[in-house]
This record gives sequence, C-alpha cells and structure tokens, in this order.
Amino acid sequence: MTIEYKNNDSFIDGISLKKIAADFGTPCFIYSHNDLVKNFSEIKNVFASEKRKVFYSVKANSNLSILKVLLELGAGFDIVSLGELERVIKIGAQPEKIIYSGVGKSEEEIIRSLEYGIHCFNVESFSELERINSIATKLNKVAPVSIRINPNIDPGSHEFISTGVETTKFGINLKNMMDAFIYANNEKSIELLGIDYHIGSQIESLDPFKEAIVSVKKIVDQLKENNINIKLIDMGGGLGINYQNNDAPSLNDFGKTINQVINDNELSDYDFIIELGRSIVGNVGYILTSVEYIKKDSEKNFVIVDAGMDNLIRPALYDAWHEIKPITDNKEQNILCDIVGPVCECTDFLGKDRRLSVQQGDLLIISSCGAYASSMASNYNSRPKPSEIMIKNGEMHIISRKEKINDLFSREIIVS
Ligand SMILES: Cc1ncc(COP(=O)(O)O)c(C=O)c1O
Repeated sequence: MTIEYKNNDSFIDGISLKKIAADFGTPCFIYSHNDLVKNFSEIKNVFASEKRKVFYSVKANSNLSILKVLLELGAGFDIVSLGELERVIKIGAQPEKIIYSGVGKSEEEIIRSLEYGIHCFNVESFSELERINSIATKLNKVAPVSIRINPNIDPGSHEFISTGVETTKFGINLKNMMDAFIYANNEKSIELLGIDYHIGSQIESLDPFKEAIVSVKKIVDQLKENNINIKLIDMGGGLGINYQNNDAPSLNDFGKTINQVINDNELSDYDFIIELGRSIVGNVGYILTSVEYIKKDSEKNFVIVDAGMDNLIRPALYDAWHEIKPITDNKEQNILCDIVGPVCECTDFLGKDRRLSVQQGDLLIISSCGAYASSMASNYNSRPKPSEIMIKNGEMHIISRKEKINDLFSREIIVS
C-alpha cells in the first residue's frame, strides 16, 4: 500500500489523513481493509487447498473487525489464551478452525477449549501433555493434540523472536520429543494429530522455512519407525515484512516455495496448516500522530509526538525500525532528530536519527503498525488506548473506540 500525497495532505485508500485526525483525534490506528483482503487472498490463492489451510495468528492483531474480515475470507485461527479463544468464538469462528498454541495453558483454558471442541492443542511440554490428558479424562473427552517440537533452527531474526532455537522456552527439543509422541499416541483421552513448530518471526529468508520442512520429514520418518502415524503438520508462522529497506519474500513466493519443498520431501499426503500473523496484517496498519513539541538541543533534536511506546512498543522491545513521515510532501529534510513519545522512559522512542522536515502541530504517519502494535499496547503512564479506524470501500469505520479516562480506573477499588 502506498500513501498518496496530494494538496498538502496524505491519503490512505482515498481518505484524507487530516480528516481522520480531525474526526478521531491522534494518536490513532488506521487499517486498510483493501490491503488486509489482498494479503490474505495472496497466500490463500497460492497455498490453500483441501489439505492445506491458512490460519491467522490472533496475537498479531486481535481486533474483532480484523478477525471478522479474515474469518469471512476463510481463515482459521491460531490462539494463545482464553481471551483470544473468546474473541474468535465471538466473531463466529467454528471451533474446529481453532488451534491453541503457547507454553502456559491453564486448566481453565484447557477445559474451555475442550468444551468448545477446538481443532487441536499444540502442546509445548510433557507436563502440559499430562495435564491435558488428565483434564480430558475427567471430562470424558478426547483431546486432539500436535506436539510442538523445537527443531533448533536459527531463523536469522531478532533474538527475542527466534523461537525455534533450543535455548528458548518453546516446544519440546529433538532429544525429548519422542517420549511425548509415544505418550500422546498411547493415551485413550488423547488423539495425536500431528507435529507443530514455529521457528520465529520476521524471517526474511525462505531458507529457514525450507530447513524446517526437511527436519520435519526426518521426524515423520522417525515416528513411522516407532509405529506412530500422524496426519497433520503445522508449520507455524514467521514470514517477515518490509519495514525498512529489507527485502522480505512475498506471500506468494513463500507459498510457492513451501508447496514445492513439501512436495520435494514427499509430504504431500499430510494435512498442512500455516499460522501467519505479521505478513497478513503488518503492512495493513498505520499510526497517525501529531507533533506536540520540538526540542532543539545542541547534541540532539527531539520531535515529541502524542504516540508512544504504549501504542507501539516494537522499537523499545526489539530496536525495530518503522518508517515515519510527515503527511505533507515536503522534500526538505531539515532536522536530524529522534521521534519520541510522551512516556517517561528513555526507551520511549519511535524512531532514532531520522531526517524530517517537521514543525510543531504537524501530523506524522508511522507505517507497518498493523501487527504487534495495538495488540501489544498498554496503559502505561495511565494513557488511554487510542481509536482504531478501518478504511473500507472509501469510508472510515471506527473498529475500536478511544478509551475514556474513566475506563482507566473502572476496575479499581479504593480501599478506605
Ligand atoms: C506459535 C506461533 N504461531 C504463529 C505466530 C505468528 O508469527 P508471525 O506473526 O511472525 O507470522 C507466532 C508468533 O510469534 C507464534 O508464536
């Protein structure tokens, strides 16, 4: 998606950003319905079939309207909490199109998922497997599970999002996985469906994905030697997007490549699931923010905006880079600055060492804020969460209203 500059303003899908700021205030999130449909359709068209399903990883952006759009396009859902489960149920997802990942599933979460009848638990430890077995037995149900293995593959992304290396908490390592498969295969209250992995996020090369499929083929063969037959391979998510001048593969190339590697490794008879988050929603979203102050210093200039790390924590958390531009097409790049928020932390920055032509009161647009922005947002410094707007068919739709100040303490009880 490109932002269009026109008449001293910018437009996303034909809607003026000045108008959005006037109608909804800043900061606010803006999403393009058009781009959301385009992204999901791109991967669905190349990958989805009777045996291959595209799931959406809810943690990337869990807004109900975003989920509903994806549901209508045919997505299944990868969830990691009771909250995410109830979100996808609320928008009408069928339980058999829900898979449950995550290392810390509570009893309550397992019970609720079994009651709904979800498609599969992606089990991350032996003790979780025992807990699911015991709950399913008590409820007189059979729990469908895949074993999440940790294939020890370095996806080449930031350390904090490289989940497929053995030093992380995710999955069961190759040494111990067979015990889990054997247990799951033998217990009456468990139906062993398959194998699952997720090697990391913001992966910018297709090689780690290929490597993972080759590694899974070896595991499938090992399972067969132990008379364990599975039918499902869940490949997780992880495809990166372009934030800067990086060159992430397209969804189309990703889909084509994994199809090819699945076939090359004689795995075509298996059911496959992919669980994409960032590559579906990342470049669909923006944050519109206003410049509150410009602080000129001898050492450094600071452009202080009304969005902060409470709205977009990725720069603080991963040193992530987001494009930040004034909404007016002023080509003069006249100050070298850090763009920072109002939150009282040194890590409250949105961009560092940028050249911007900017004045107090200007509007700036921050790109690639569709994934892991609003879903990671907080109320730190008692700042209300902003409005979220979806542009659909040339119209603005509010999909999350701005929190009111009263919302901030509505759960709190003053002890006298
Ligand atoms: C188990 C699992 N599946 C899928 C995803 C989605 O990853 P991404 O947004 O990189 O596609 C994640 C994200 O961390 C995850 O933990």
